[in-house]
Amino acid sequence: MALRPSTNLFLTLMLNLLAIFPPMAMASDADILTDFNLPPNVSNVDATFFTYTAARSLVGAQPPTALNFLFADKTSFPALDGQGVSLAVLRMPGGAVNPPHSHPRATELLLLISGYLEVGFIDSTNKLFNQTLNAGDMYVFPKGLVHYQFNYAPDVPAISVSAFGSANPGLVSIPSNLFQTDIEDRILAWSFKTDIPTIQRIKASVQGSPQA
Ligand SMILES: *[C@@H]1O[C@H](CO)[C@@H](O)[C@H](O)[C@H]1NC(C)=O
Ligand SMILES: *[C@@H]1O[C@H](CO)[C@@H](O)[C@H](O)[C@H]1NC(C)=O
Repeated sequence: MALRPSTNLFLTLMLNLLAIFPPMAMASDADILTDFNLPPNVSNVDATFFTYTAARSLVGAQPPTALNFLFADKTSFPALDGQGVSLAVLRMPGGAVNPPHSHPRATELLLLISGYLEVGFIDSTNKLFNQTLNAGDMYVFPKGLVHYQFNYAPDVPAISVSAFGSANPGLVSIPSNLFQTDIEDRILAWSFKTDIPTIQRIKASVQGSPQA
């Protein structure tokens, strides 16, 4: 039996919608239809385009005195555009914390090269999965979940390399995201079950501290 016209129309509409808005479970960098993407103002490249040498500065570098990042993502290294990967090198002096943050578009796979780290992420039921890592250990932070790194060794710098499953993972730092925006003090005070002066104190101190 043939489908009634209205059912047909509905199915066609659904299929079209699915084509335009693929299901969120599929969310990752879109496949490209060329071998690689070139920036709009570039038409001809050689191997230089696929080479990124910024991390040479880290070879034999002095130990970090503050939280220090080097990103190879589609902004700093345009050849990554469309390739679905990026990398970050994180250097932390003893005692440093990389505050809770998330990468909305990528899973992160961290490899601790040297030193010690406590790492952890929180799942969507607020359960903490934390771990202490030794050099050589890897830890995976599932896509979009809030996580942190803490160099708990007071005198030993920690160096780690993180791979991301997106050329543009994005970074949402929880302290900045909540306390360096225009959300009204009274809304934050209500949300955190505290008073406005407390919120203003937190805003002032978050303003003055480096955020990743
Ligand atoms: C292309 O444009 C970008 C940003 O607009 C610029 O940084 C880069 O130097 C340009 N490249 C060439 C080859 O003109
Ligand atoms: C995980 O965090 C708890 C505190 O919530 C702490 O007592 C514990 O030592 C941590 N575990 C690791 C492996 O770092």
